[in-house]
Formats: sequence, structure tokens, C-alpha cells
Amino acid sequence: MTDSQPRIALVTGAGRGLGKAMALKLAEGGFSVAVHYGRSSDEAEAVAGQIRADGGQAQTFAADLSVPANAGKLVEDVAAQLGGLHVLVNNAGITRDGLAIRMKDADWDAVMATNLSSAFAACRAAIKIMMRSRAGRIINISSVVGLMGNPGQANYVASKAGLIGLTKALAKEYGARNITVNAVAPGFIASDMTDALSDEQKAAYVAAIPLGRLGSADDVAALVAFLASDAAGYITGQIVGVDGGLYPH
Ligand SMILES: NC(=O)c1ccc[n+]([C@@H]2O[C@H](COP(=O)([O-])OP(=O)(O)OC[C@H]3O[C@@H](n4cnc5c(N)ncnc54)[C@H](O)[C@@H]3O)[C@@H](O)[C@H]2O)c1
Repeated sequence: MTDSQPRIALVTGAGRGLGKAMALKLAEGGFSVAVHYGRSSDEAEAVAGQIRADGGQAQTFAADLSVPANAGKLVEDVAAQLGGLHVLVNNAGITRDGLAIRMKDADWDAVMATNLSSAFAACRAAIKIMMRSRAGRIINISSVVGLMGNPGQANYVASKAGLIGLTKALAKEYGARNITVNAVAPGFIASDMTDALSDEQKAAYVAAIPLGRLGSADDVAALVAFLASDAAGYITGQIVGVDGGLYPH
């Protein structure tokens, strides 16, 4: 790794699922990884322990991202404790599914706060730090449904589409500062989130996927690691799908 390469990466929601795979992959690529978690530290400590056992560097950080102000503080804490921030991956996210006509304000607000407002607050804090070091990478984890819509998920879809707009706006605003901002739009990935689907729902999704299978967390992590790498230095403002061909755009 050269001096010009990013060194410290923060992955939100990195105790399990896609975030865990991203943290492990970034560590494999030589990053010192801030493994963020919400409530329980056990999973995040296990991820950090695994990274250290493999010879890498990792530290856990707690923050409840249902409160956006906590996201800004998280970023500042990571930079203060680890000595900077080069890569921010906004991965933490929740669903509170239901038909729009019956959706409670609280379910709309919780999803928007966690998935979109906290991501914005983290971006804002990270950009200030990245501007000082004249380089940075932000990767927002959106979703294929943010591009194509999905019934029963008005709040989640709106938050993920919001992340896409945020990504494009920030890419234009901070390109001149050598900060790239991209979004990843996973399709249906085998995880705790998709485990909640019925077998019938899963079969219906697989039937619509040209590659004929659900994706894996590693499929998504590989793209995140690439976008964080020097090789991706000329890529910004992009929404890259990892969806087996479900929604070409
Ligand atoms: N699994 C999929 O098929 C899929 C598809 C498209 C997009 N995504 C997106 O990928 C990301 C990761 O999804 P996943 O499948 O690994 O889900 P997951 O539920 O396994 O993980 C979500 C993570 O977010 C964290 N989180 C949630 N609320 C939080 C809060 N208030 N404070 C702090 N942390 C909080 C959780 O602790 C967890 O680590 C999410 O943004 C999700 O929307 C997933």
C-alpha cells in the first residue's frame, strides 16, 4: 500500500451480514477497520477479533444510528481515535415493512432516520475530515429496490432512493476535493434480512434473477473493496448494482 492510499475505513453496522463481510474484506486489503455496531458489542467484537487474528487492525465503535446526531459523532470519534478517516461505508440499515396506507409515522421516521438521515450526518462529518487530508471515499449501501421500487416498503424504498440522490449530489459537490462518493445497490442477498422472507417469496425472486441465485455478502463486499481501492479513483457518482442482473440500469 502506498502513502496515497486510504488507510482507515469505517463500516457502519459491521457486526453481521453484509457489513461484516465488508469489514473483513477491507481489512484483507490492508485497511485499519472501525467496526461499528448499534446495541450489542458481541458480534462486532468477534469481527474485530477475527481481523486481528488474521494479522489486521480493527477497533469497535458503538453508536445508535436511529439518532442522526450520533452518526456525526461516530465519525468524529473514529477519526480522533484512529488518526483520520479515508473510507466511510454507510451500511447500517433497517426495514419496517407494511402497506403505505397502514404505515405508522413512527415506522416511516425510524427507517428514514436510520437509513438516510444518519448516512447524511456521517457523510457530512466525514467530508470535513476528508477535505483536510485531500482524499476520501464514501460508499453508500443503497438497494436495488431504491431503483425499481417494491410494494410494502415505501419507507425503505424512499430511504434507499434518497441515498442514491445523496450520493449523486455529494459526488458533484466534493469531486474537486478528491472525494469520491458512490452507491452500491445490492439485489437479494442471503442474510438475516432476507432470511425473513418466506420460501415462496425467495423462489419468486430467484426466478426473476438472470444469474438464478441470491447473492452473497461476499459478492457485495468485493465491490465495496474495489470502490475503496486506488484502482477506483476515477469512479464517482455511480450507482453500481450487485443483483445478478435483476435490474439493469
Ligand atoms: N440483504 C439484502 O438482501 C440487502 C439488499 C439490498 C440492500 N441491503 C442493505 O445492506 C445493508 C446491510 O444489510 P444486511 O442484510 O446485512 O442487514 P442486517 O440486518 O444483517 O444488518 C444491518 C446492520 O445495521 C445495523 N443497524 C441497524 N439499526 C441500527 C441502529 N439504529 N444503530 C446502529 N446500527 C444499526 C445492525 O446492527 C446490523 O449490523 C442495509 O443497509 C440493507 O438495507 C441488503
